[in-house]
Amino acid sequence: MRLLVTGGAGFIGSNFVRYVLAEHADCAVVNLDKLTYAGNLENLRDVEADPRYRFVRGDVAAPADVERAVQAAREAFGGLDAVVHFAAESHVDRSIEDPQVFVRTNVLGTQVLLDAARRHAVGRFLQVSTDEVYGSLGEGDAPWTEDSPPAPNSPYAASKAAADLLARACGRTYGLPVLITRCSNNYGPYQFPEKLIPLAVTNALAGEEVPVYGDGRHVRDWIHVEDHCRAVDLVLRRGRPGEVYNVGGENEARNIDVVRAVLRELGLPDEPGTPGCPIRFVADRPGHDRRYAMSSDRLRRELGWRRRWAFADGLRQTVRWYLDNRAWWERVRSGEHRAFRERTVGGR
Ligand SMILES: NC(=O)c1ccc[n+]([C@@H]2O[C@H](COP(=O)([O-])OP(=O)(O)OC[C@H]3O[C@@H](n4cnc5c(N)ncnc54)[C@H](O)[C@@H]3O)[C@@H](O)[C@H]2O)c1
Repeated sequence: MRLLVTGGAGFIGSNFVRYVLAEHADCAVVNLDKLTYAGNLENLRDVEADPRYRFVRGDVAAPADVERAVQAAREAFGGLDAVVHFAAESHVDRSIEDPQVFVRTNVLGTQVLLDAARRHAVGRFLQVSTDEVYGSLGEGDAPWTEDSPPAPNSPYAASKAAADLLARACGRTYGLPVLITRCSNNYGPYQFPEKLIPLAVTNALAGEEVPVYGDGRHVRDWIHVEDHCRAVDLVLRRGRPGEVYNVGGENEARNIDVVRAVLRELGLPDEPGTPGCPIRFVADRPGHDRRYAMSSDRLRRELGWRRRWAFADGLRQTVRWYLDNRAWWERVRSGEHRAFRERTVGGR
């Protein structure tokens, strides 16, 4: 399969590029990425010399850039079989601060890619989406299924829901073979340290406070990025066009418990309020979703997917990775990210 992967220099995209190149000898990848603050070519150092890999710097919302990436696939690999669309603005806090860039990249960018996929008669288009499009659950509510209606609460989630609907419409109206995956909270190597787990690890290692929103009892369903990448690859190859596939981690946990587990892995005091414990509760995020939980029954039943990482093992491996890759996160924490943290809760 010759793939156009967008956002391949980000957290999940880079793990996916590495995964497919290792897993499928006959796979080739063009990675189209704008290299925003979240994109980092260092994430793909180990594959950049692979003859099956090409990088194109460009914006998914700019038709000329997308066209360049398609031409790169044509020149290097003789054509393009599928698009796997990861590129997005992905941080809820940033979407609250500046929603417009989320609409441009996540909504317009998806439409530009869909138009290009149609024009070039690409065989599959996989839209990588999120459980956040479903909104928020109460404690006793049943997990979402693929039939649950979209009810997004943040500008980020609304932009992803809009993109999902445009992808669906493109399938129905023009017959493009569109697939949508909706995944829960990912963790693992190469995650930008603005998200909960790497923020906790890197702040604690840097001797800074670890901010936790509100009462810390917000529940997320954590999945290791490798389990997500395997799901995307399965849906890409064997999923039914027109369908949505939820990808849940089967690991519901409260934010405060996740942060405490990280601190225990680092050998630091984890009881809030005790000496040496870096946890600081901060004012809650506006519109903060209380709980996410999804059923992955369709993915398991139709495609035989199973998660391989138990949360405790995955967290240990991830914390180890940040310990072993201090130079990586010290570099990405400097500059733009620091400026953002200083404007928001993570800053002090
Ligand atoms: N992180 C999660 O827990 C999670 C869960 C479910 C779904 N998702 C989805 O998975 C995808 C990837 O998430 P991530 O956590 O890896 O994000 P990320 O922020 O780490 O990476 C996003 C990548 O997209 C690139 N990008 C941003 N705007 C672009 C543009 N206009 N044109 C081209 N490239 C652009 C960035 O440079 C970066 O490399 C997103 O679509 C996100 O909505 C993420």
